[in-house]
Amino acid sequence: MTLASMRTTISDIQGRLDEFENQEVELAGWLYGKRSSGKIHFLQLRDGSGTVQCVMGKKDVDEETFKRADHLPQESSIKVKGVVKKDARSPLGFEIHANGLTVMQLAESYPITPKEHGVAFLMDHRHLWLRSNRQHKIMRIRHTIIKAVRDYFDNNGFTLMDAPIFTPNACEGTTNLFEVGYFESNAYLTQSGQLYSEAGAMAHGKVYCFGPTFRAEKSKTRRHLTEFWMVEPEVAYMDLAGDMDLAEDFLCFIVQRVLEKHEKDLESIGRNVEALKKIQKPFPRIAHKEAVDMINAAINEGRADPRPAGAERASHSEGKDEDASQGVEAEKKTPRLARYDDDFGAEDETILSRMFDRPVLVHRYPQQVKAFYMKRDPEDPERALCVDVLAPEGYGEIIGGGQREDDLETLLSRIDHHQLPREAFSWYLDLRKYGTVPHAGFGLGIERTVTWICGLHHVRETIPFPRMMERLAP
Ligand code: 4AD
Ligand code: MG
Repeated sequence: MTLASMRTTISDIQGRLDEFENQEVELAGWLYGKRSSGKIHFLQLRDGSGTVQCVMGKKDVDEETFKRADHLPQESSIKVKGVVKKDARSPLGFEIHANGLTVMQLAESYPITPKEHGVAFLMDHRHLWLRSNRQHKIMRIRHTIIKAVRDYFDNNGFTLMDAPIFTPNACEGTTNLFEVGYFESNAYLTQSGQLYSEAGAMAHGKVYCFGPTFRAEKSKTRRHLTEFWMVEPEVAYMDLAGDMDLAEDFLCFIVQRVLEKHEKDLESIGRNVEALKKIQKPFPRIAHKEAVDMINAAINEGRADPRPAGAERASHSEGKDEDASQGVEAEKKTPRLARYDDDFGAEDETILSRMFDRPVLVHRYPQQVKAFYMKRDPEDPERALCVDVLAPEGYGEIIGGGQREDDLETLLSRIDHHQLPREAFSWYLDLRKYGTVPHAGFGLGIERTVTWICGLHHVRETIPFPRMMERLAP
């Protein structure tokens, strides 16, 4: 940081260690942990940018300071003065030889202790849990993923055009809408910005929107939040094949960026980094019918693996996971066969995506299970020109998208067929009246992507304050 008013942080020192070596610094943060050997205290100071060991010898400070340091509760806010010393044993490459300590506040007894807590307890203390090392790493990786998402589109000629959150009508079907009061009438919280992105694409060619989306998901699963972040690119004059190329290139970029910045972080949270290094083009592309055959063959031959993703690694989680046993449960039953005329369930996605070492693009689902706006395949009108991208290792869907119906009459009949009010879509239909063109796009769920890249078992750890059917606090 070059601003004089900004404090030096642990990551500043790590980034410019040669410059800081043997210099005196003052770090401001919180006590993450400590141990003492009588003559020396080892204080773990975290300052938000990292955690560093501060070594305080009895002879380096006055007697009172040395005593205070011995009785500091975890998470007390403190400032430590000291000299930066290189140290090969430190994961950061340095430690601080402390010669001064200011205590800002002696914390009360901290509820999160090194002993194992249940996930519900940790979730109730999410506002504090975010301070812990592992949660800190996951949030940093989320940050990098979001930055990579924006960089990818910004550097490839897309314009950010955010969609409204209050909407008058549904995009993805009416069953899971949150209704809110809106003055004398009511509105819905958006499920997807897509329809607005389509208007944007007709104005700017390539656009994306990126914001929170809401779904009243009554299912309590590892993959569902009621509030999640979605990025949705939309491109004029693009077809399904182009959409798949875009999704593939985009995902490779994101994974590459995370590997560049976070290889050590990933390892320390138990992620198999080698698996991520395999995320390279080309990704397999299979039609839904073919995917059904693959799933059913695996089930019939007893080699289908329906264990939820990350279940084998659930023990890495800080919290005792109440649903870690699901994996074992799922192994006992024989999975239900997939069908040509139906959507995939979570289990189908798990089985299929465990067969690949990179994301698989499944295209041309049956049109009757998909949204009204999907264009049908002229070669097989029972199929939609859509794609779902399933992340490997059992993670399942992270992207949904496809080519949009661009013909006015066909779209009108789809709206009627889905029993949607024509009036509410009149603005959307205008896009087909005034210079309609083939166009396509997709939506990527940020939390599912973070879950996969971090190798987690449950989506709840990937967003600062998760909202789920049974959780609205803190
Ligand atoms: O497949 P979905 O429903 O697609 C759409 O909303 C399209 N309108 C997007 C578009 O084409 N512009 O949702 C897209 C992605 C999913 O693949 C998943 O990653 C994520 O959004 N998602 C959820 N993530 C967490 N919790 C939920 N309840 C989610 N529902 C969807
Ligand atoms: Mg979907």
